Order: sequence, then C-alpha cells, then structure tokens
Amino acid sequence: MPLPSPGRPRLRLALAAAGLVLILAGCVPTGTTRESANPQDAQTVQENLAVAANNLRSYAILDDEFAPEIRAHLFGIPGLRSLSSVTEARVLAAIESNGSFGGRAAYSPVLTDPAARRPAERFIVAPQVQDPRTTGAPTSGASDAGTAGKFPTEAEESEPGERLEIGNEVLAAGGDFLVSRLWVRGPGDDRPQASVLVTQISTDTTVDIGDLFDAEVDAAAIAVDAFGHVTLEGSQVPEKSLTALGRTVSKSLRTPLALPAAADERRPDYSCSLLPCVALTYDDGPGDPEGEDSLLDAAAEAGVRLTYFLLGRNVAAFPGTVERMVDQGHEIANHTHSHPQLDRSSPATVRAQVRQADDAIEAAGAGRPELLRPPFGALDSAAAGVLGHPAILWDVDTEDWRHKNPGKVVASVARDARPGSIVLMHSIHPSTIEASPQVFRTVAEKGLYAVTTSELFAGVELSAGAQYYCRGYGSELCSNPEHPAVLRK
Ligand code: NI
Repeated sequence: MPLPSPGRPRLRLALAAAGLVLILAGCVPTGTTRESANPQDAQTVQENLAVAANNLRSYAILDDEFAPEIRAHLFGIPGLRSLSSVTEARVLAAIESNGSFGGRAAYSPVLTDPAARRPAERFIVAPQVQDPRTTGAPTSGASDAGTAGKFPTEAEESEPGERLEIGNEVLAAGGDFLVSRLWVRGPGDDRPQASVLVTQISTDTTVDIGDLFDAEVDAAAIAVDAFGHVTLEGSQVPEKSLTALGRTVSKSLRTPLALPAAADERRPDYSCSLLPCVALTYDDGPGDPEGEDSLLDAAAEAGVRLTYFLLGRNVAAFPGTVERMVDQGHEIANHTHSHPQLDRSSPATVRAQVRQADDAIEAAGAGRPELLRPPFGALDSAAAGVLGHPAILWDVDTEDWRHKNPGKVVASVARDARPGSIVLMHSIHPSTIEASPQVFRTVAEKGLYAVTTSELFAGVELSAGAQYYCRGYGSELCSNPEHPAVLRK
C-alpha cells in the first residue's frame, strides 16, 4: 500500500542532531523501489538476530499487588541505555495509566522469581517469510506465509483479560541500528498498543520509527522481512517513502550488527524505578588487603557492584585497595576519618572528620564522595546541619560485627532484603568476607538486582544532612517519591 504524502513536519531530534542524516544522506541508494532477494542478506539478517539474542538480557515483572495485575517481559542490551530508558518511561506510564500504581505516587517494584524470565529467543521476532523465487515480493498476504514477523507476536498468545501485559522484542538489527517493538495491552484491550523504536548503537540514541518515514505510519503494521527490508502491512516500503535516516537504517539492517563493545554488564538495563534493587554496603574499610581482595574477587565473580563506606584513616593506610575498588567500578563513600559518634561531637569535629575522609578518598583516586554514613548510624540535628552529604543509613542490619557468623549474614539478607533495601555489612570481618559469595547468590536468587547506593537512589534528589534508610516505596522511614526526604528526629 502506498504511503500517504507529503511528509509531515516531525522532530528528528536525537539522530538529526548528531548530524547523521546529513552526513549519510549522500550514500543512500536511490532508484529501485524494491530490492532483490539476496540470499546473503537473508543470512546476515539471521546472524544479526542471533547476535542480538546472545547479547540481550531478560527481565520479568509479575506483579499482583494492585489491579490490574502486571505481566511484563522486557529485554535490555548492555550499553543501549537510551533504548531501556525510553522503554522504561513508557512502561511506567502504562502501569500508571492503567492504575497499577495502586494510588501511590510511584511504581513500587516487586520481587519476581528469576525463573519467570523468558529465554532470549522469545524476544526475537522471526523475520517475515518470503518466497525466495520471487524478486523479494513479500508473501504475507498468502495464506501459507505464516505469522512470523506479524504483529502481535507474544501478545497474541494470550486472550484479552484483566491483566496489564507489556513486552518488547527485537524486530531487526544490523550495522549501527537495532529496531525493537514495545507493546502494551491493557485489561480488555482487543489488541495491544505498539510503538517501534530505532536505536542508533554508536551514539546510544533512540527515536520512534516514525522518524524513518515521510508520513504517519501505524507502528503495529511495521515489520522487517527475511532479507532485511522494512515492510508495512506486509509490503516492502519503497525507498522513496523513507526519510534519509530511514534509508540509512534500512541499508544497515543488511550489514553485520555492531553492538557496544565496552558496556558494564553488571549494571541492570532498567532503573530501580522499575526493578527491585538492593544496595550491598560494606563499612569501616579498607581492611586487610587480602580480605578486601577476596571480597573484590567474589563481587567480580558474581557480577555485582558494592558500596564501600570507608574510614579516612584506613584509606590513607591502604590506598592500593581503594584503587582496586575504584578500578572495578564500586562506589566509594565517606564513613568519617576515625569513626567518632557524630551526635556526641562538636560541629567543628564533625566538619573536620568529614573533610579528612573526603580528602583521603579523593587522594586515593576515588573522586570526592557524594554519600556519607555516620558511624553507628548516629546523627543529631547539629551534626546533620554540618554534614555536607546525604546520610545513608540502612534497613537491613546483618549484625555481622556482633555474631561474626557467615551463615547468619546470609540468613539476614535472605530474610530481610526487599526491593529498595540497603544492607549493612563490614568488610573488616573475615566472617563477612566468607559470607559474601553466598550473599550475592542469595540476592540474585530472590530476584533482586544489586546496584550501588547512588544507582539505588537514581531519580531521587538527596539532600545534605537528611537520612535515608532505603529506597522505599511505601515505608515512611525510607526515601521515596512520596516522602522524598524523611528525617528522623
Ligand atoms: Ni562503622
């Protein structure tokens, strides 16, 4: 079917701003409106989808707390933050507009059994089937063409019901681009609402697929055929109906996919606004280098990042250990210079203790720390007033310093850690180091994502002197969008 013309005015913000459209417009193929079915293209298309499948990560959100219940299955790819942040914003908007915030000001992430995460191949849409004997004419109108590539895919497996169903999937990928579809089906909807997103990998920018067309298109009707050509309602889209960007993307889909090379795979693709996160924190170090190295090795093995609240005097004693913590991407924060009880210290002492630790941490190459944990969790209003940093407390106290029992550390995490928790541990105790591999496994098995404390609070504005016990979504002792900075008197 022909695309309506003329083109509509539409902002092609991110990619156009990157200058890509202008730069690449000169190498756009012209002339033919239908390209031949090249078997090599078909192979490249399949190989690209396999690469995408091998690199994506699966997320499941099965939430029965408020009506409608949520069934969301999302993929993310390390290094494609723009894709996951656009997707996350739309997912949260859908959850809110369907009422599943339950009257709260923000979504409250839930634990979901990791076994519910779908295998990677279920996020890949099989390309539209074509008859290779023709010149690339799609056969989707024929009865034997199958449903591959048609919309919806995962969505059509379930009957419209009372649940809110959400999913995204890879339509095509190649060269510097990945094309994905996000669908949302509210309770009782006959068919899902779809949006198709185009992500430029090298610049990590994501736009709606409308930017590829010279006219308004129905995102639900867009697919990619087995030869890497964009189709609309089963017909290959003529080159002349694509924008310069559209032609660039279309051409890229028939070249080998180049995913980001240096992405930190320990970082979840979605934020703690959507995912159930936990911050694992270790105080009073750096302790003896051998123990700290064991902890760092365990964290690397488990693919988790930690937050260290370090004492300035220990940082000065073991700068090499701090360097390794920083090299491995952990968060370094302030635990004062020599561990005084701040609610019994003069404001001048508090200031000096904080500054000395900040200086030592900075001198060790960890930058100026953002966060601070008062020793013993003790803070009064006078000390808070001169702290100069948000005070990060905890909601899960493993009491590792008291019992020095690895099994009890693990049991505490298994029992008490919940979405948004901050877990208190101490890296100066061998028993805590010994517990760490099992702590990391326990967190993962619960379906929690271990993040740094700053990541846990991403999107929440933290204030100097205020106390934060966890990223809460309902508890009044926690910081959350409803109670952004709860101060304990
Ligand atoms: Ni301490």
